[in-house]
Amino acid sequence: TALAATCVAAQDYPAQPITIVVPFSAGGPTDTVTRLVAQAMSEDLGQQVVVQNVGGAGGTLGAGQVAAAANDGYTLLLHHIGMSTAPALYQSLPFDPQTDFAPIGLVTNVPMTIVARRDFEPETMADLITHIQENGENITYANAGIGAASQLCGLLLMDALDTRMTEVPYQGTGPAMTDLLGGQIDMMCDQTTNTTSQILAGEIKAYAVTTPERVAALPDVPTAAEGGLENFELAIWHGLYAPAGTDPAIVERLTTSLQAALANETVAQSFADLGTYPVPADQATPDALAQTLAAQTELWAEVIAAAGVSAQ
Ligand code: MLT
Repeated sequence: TALAATCVAAQDYPAQPITIVVPFSAGGPTDTVTRLVAQAMSEDLGQQVVVQNVGGAGGTLGAGQVAAAANDGYTLLLHHIGMSTAPALYQSLPFDPQTDFAPIGLVTNVPMTIVARRDFEPETMADLITHIQENGENITYANAGIGAASQLCGLLLMDALDTRMTEVPYQGTGPAMTDLLGGQIDMMCDQTTNTTSQILAGEIKAYAVTTPERVAALPDVPTAAEGGLENFELAIWHGLYAPAGTDPAIVERLTTSLQAALANETVAQSFADLGTYPVPADQATPDALAQTLAAQTELWAEVIAAAGVSAQ
């Protein structure tokens, strides 16, 4: 019977390699986090866990692809806060983040950094604020498209300073970083998982971190509040999802595997070196992810409406 077949499928799971779709370019922050987690999950599951980059449309292309994929546990999505902002930013999304996925668990909360090409004129956060207010659209600001964390951070920054910059979209902040390093773009706001090593190497300028406290991996970078930008706090939460309707036994196995990966010392150390940390086991659960997604969707709908951003 079909039921017996499902039970067997769950029992034998995983019987083939699993693909985790990252909805941004290779080499960027989501990709970096996912590859670390995928490697550790692969050891736990005794199966290959392959990362596939499907960039475009601020993460909504890759997310839509997983929403439409077979719900057999072999195609998963690792996505961030963009799952909660996209519904407010897009007039018609081809998927519903809250009903088209089976949440597996939260993964990490990544601080952001406000950074610029190394020869960008402003020296401090206070200088940067003045510079943005005086130069507005003459400044180029890289982001990973509408729905990306970098786009959300830019939106909040421009709203806080009541000005516009010229936004330049990429398929991920990996390629945006290449252009920042090359001096083709002025600035961006991106996750520490993509900026820490370049900041420490002095390859780019860092003005602030977006967390209430300084980030241990970047002790010399002030918080936004220290830099004169009050109430500018943003942490990029990430979650792992399967398509809706995935066998609960498979979801449970994936949750256990995610928890094992996050408890892995190599993963924890790599995360710390990148300015972030794995969430505790009680957050790496379907319930915690579902609750975060619901609460954040509500929060960002209000913030985005208040910022006067119209849906695409
Ligand atoms: C990426 O992985 O490229 C980033 O997470 C994009 C972003 O959301 O800014």
